Amino acid sequence: MHIAFFNTKRYEKQPFEEANRDAGHEIRWIDLPLRADTADLAKGCEAVCVFVNDQVNAAAIGRLAEAGVKLVATRSAGYNHIDVPAAHAAGLAVVRVPAYSPYAVAEHTIALMLSLNRHVHRAYSRVRDGNFSLDGLLGFDMHGKTVGLIGLGKIGACTARILNGMGCRVVGYDPFSVAEGVTPVALPQLLAESDIVSLHCPLTVETHHLIGAEAIATMKRGAMLINTSRGALVDTLAVIEALKSGQLGWLGIDVYEEEGELFFSDLSETVIQDDVFSRLLTFPNVLVTGHQAFFTAEALAAIAAVTVQNVSEYEKSGSCNNAIV
Ligand code: NAI
Repeated sequence: MHIAFFNTKRYEKQPFEEANRDAGHEIRWIDLPLRADTADLAKGCEAVCVFVNDQVNAAAIGRLAEAGVKLVATRSAGYNHIDVPAAHAAGLAVVRVPAYSPYAVAEHTIALMLSLNRHVHRAYSRVRDGNFSLDGLLGFDMHGKTVGLIGLGKIGACTARILNGMGCRVVGYDPFSVAEGVTPVALPQLLAESDIVSLHCPLTVETHHLIGAEAIATMKRGAMLINTSRGALVDTLAVIEALKSGQLGWLGIDVYEEEGELFFSDLSETVIQDDVFSRLLTFPNVLVTGHQAFFTAEALAAIAAVTVQNVSEYEKSGSCNNAIV
């Protein structure tokens, strides 16, 4: 198949070329993100490959259908960036990578918790500056703390296993799943009891701004909030107010609700126009990474292998086990 590979990053070419060696698809590398006004770049391709900040909305899908595209293959697990009903209505199938390395995301989640708690991000530059004072670097033992996981799927369950190993009490809320080593509780109880709340559920209409002013007000004062799932699970303005008042003690995020204009690009020579995001960066007790939780060698190789396999399967049979129905 001819695949238009939108939003190509340098580090993706090698794992995808390797995964494609036997499959032999023709890949057209495109640096631009997929949007309605770039969709025509897929002309002549039967498939497009997209990532989480491509805008695969109804307008883009219409242009893709006109260009002859039959398949949208997202190289991600989450698919909230794709208007799936619009794709189906236009006759396009949508496939994804349901699991690649839950370890990658779970381990990054723990990295955020530990870095924040032990102020590693501040200690790094302080020590390099010859300042060995411990003032302001006081942390807490993870052992014995209650961690609340919202979403107990692959990543939530993996995060729970690591936390159990650290001696944490792990509680979880998930309307559809349970996980070993996690005490299931209702959401209000989780928010009220947890020293750390970590989000591992998908972004849907129901979970949009799941953590807003109301939820934050019921959390333990000074609790830590971690989000490695999707930015819009959290109401950023409410979080900023809570950080200012001290209701929220710590924030670690790998995702941000308006990340589409920021993440995955080098903007170091430009002025950031997003004042809400810029405000977040001023807090000493906030740690932001740019959607890198998935970014391990193992995860990239698995993403490439499954994406290529999805396209091959669709080409052969017109359907795919990893299709979103
Ligand atoms: P999964 O599908 O295995 O698990 C998601 C869990 O959330 C399911 O058990 C589901 O029942 C639960 N859930 C659904 N609605 C819920 C609700 N309202 N409240 C609580 N739980 C609810 O997905 P997986 O692989 O564990 O991924 C979780 C999320 O992590 C994805 O949706 C994605 O947004 C995010 N992710 C982030 C990455 C990053 O690089 N930062 C990389 C990969 C995934």
